[in-house]
Amino acid sequence: MRTSLMASLLLGCSLFAVDYSSMIESPDASKIIQKDLLGPAKASTMPTDCISTDPKAIARGAFIFHNLNGETKDTPPEGLSKTNSDGSEKQFGNCIACHNIEGAKGAGNIGPDLHAYKKNFIDSGARNDQFVYQKIADARIDNPNTHMTINLTTGLFNQREICDIASYIVSPK
Ligand code: HEC
Repeated sequence: MRTSLMASLLLGCSLFAVDYSSMIESPDASKIIQKDLLGPAKASTMPTDCISTDPKAIARGAFIFHNLNGETKDTPPEGLSKTNSDGSEKQFGNCIACHNIEGAKGAGNIGPDLHAYKKNFIDSGARNDQFVYQKIADARIDNPNTHMTINLTTGLFNQREICDIASYIVSPK
């Protein structure tokens, strides 16, 4: 008796079951993923006037480097805006999330420590300005499996901003 009741209930349910699948919205996720994929790695030659000893360029580089999640309330130094040309809020490089450097607050250690970079890496001949520029522009050229953010290829920063950041890193501190 119990089994036949259960069986008829199940039969009833399946007879009246409605197919809702056509009403459920299922966007094509591959299109969304495609949009977020990075373009191919891009090699860039550093502009000849790139590395600057101008304190204003170095100040802009420092501001970008130390600006964690774009949270700083400080006014950006001359020549650097907190908004993009279309008025949207500028995404900063979050360098400090992964790298320690002079004066860093709350630095992460996913990337190498960039303390005394000029002395240890440039003056020693281990690295040069072009290496630093390319690393910030698109780190994949030097290391295809890098965990570093890609900045020039993605348009996160323009060439001048990459130069400002590079100028800051290689400047004596
Ligand atoms: C998500 C973590 C992460 C962020 C954010 C990040 N980096 Fe890196 N960075 C790395 C890692 C990991 C390496 C080492 C592996 C490599 O070289 O690809 C590295 C390497 C470097 C080097 C090369 C050091 C050397 O001489 O070997 C420089 C210079 C550098 N980063 C600068 C920056 C700057 C400037 C920013 C911000 C615009 C930044 N990084 C943002 C993770 C990060």
